[in-house]
Amino acid sequence: MIPPEQPWVLAREALSRAAARWIVDTLSDRLEAAGHACLVPSAGRTPLATYAVLRDRYRNAIDWRCVHLVQMDEYMGLAPDDPRSFADYLRRHLVEPLGIGAFTHFNGADGRLLRSPAAYERGLPPIDLVVHGIGRNGHIGFNEPGAVFTSPTRAVRLSPSTLGANFAVDADRQACAMGVTLGLRCLLAARQSLLLAWGVEKADALRRALCDTPSSRCPASGLRLTGRLIVMADPDAARLCIPVVAGSAGNSGTPKWEYHAGAHID
Ligand code: GLP
Repeated sequence: MIPPEQPWVLAREALSRAAARWIVDTLSDRLEAAGHACLVPSAGRTPLATYAVLRDRYRNAIDWRCVHLVQMDEYMGLAPDDPRSFADYLRRHLVEPLGIGAFTHFNGADGRLLRSPAAYERGLPPIDLVVHGIGRNGHIGFNEPGAVFTSPTRAVRLSPSTLGANFAVDADRQACAMGVTLGLRCLLAARQSLLLAWGVEKADALRRALCDTPSSRCPASGLRLTGRLIVMADPDAARLCIPVVAGSAGNSGTPKWEYHAGAHID
C-alpha cells in the first residue's frame, strides 16, 4: 500500500490498483471489527478500472457476502435493468461478479422509486466507505452546485453540464433529466470517503473542491470538512493543486492533505 506520506498523484493505472487495494483494506478492517460493511460506490466512468482490479485481484480477498452495497444516485424513471441506469452498472461491475451480499437501489422494475427518498435514507445502515467521482461542476452523487451540506436524500433536476457529460444523445438527456441522490448530510457522514479524479477536464473541479473555502457552490468541497477524505488523482486532474502537507492525521489514521491553488506544474 502507498504509505500515507506519499502524495497520491500517480498515473491512472497505478492509482486504480492503489484504490482497489485501499478499498479492500478499508472494507476488510470493517468486516473484522463489525462483521459487515456498507459500501457506496460511484457509478461513473472514473472508477471502472478500479472495479476491474477488485474483480480480477480481490474477488476472494474478503467475504463480499458480508458487504452491503448501497446505490448513491440514479436517474428517475429507469428500471434497474436499463443499461443507462446506475443500478445496472453496479450490478454488472460489482454486485454480481464479486458476489456482494445485499444491494439497495432506488428504482423498481417500473422505473419508479421503490420508496420515498426520505425512507431510503432512513433505512440505510451506517455508511463505512463512499467511493466518489467528481462532476466537472463539482457535484458528488447527484448533489449539484447549490446543494447545502445538510441536504437530505432527494429528487433533483440534473444540470445541463451533468447531462452533457453523461449522455451523448439528446433523447437520453431528456429522458434522464431528473435524478435521485443520497444527500450530502448522508454522504458526508460516511466513516471514510475516497475521491477519485482523472483527466484535465476534472482539474478545475478538483481545485475548487480541494483549494477553495468549502461551500455549496462546489458540493465536493464538503468532503474536506469530514477529516476522513482520501484523494487519488492523476497528474492531469491534479494540475491546479499541490499537496502542501502530507502526513498521518484524522481519526482513522489516514493521510490528510492540504492543497494550494495556482500550482500548475507541467
Ligand atoms: C456522475 C455521477 C456521480 C459520479 C460523477 C463522476 O454524474 N452522478 O456518481 O461519481 O458524476 O462521473 P464520471 O466518473 O463518469 O466522470
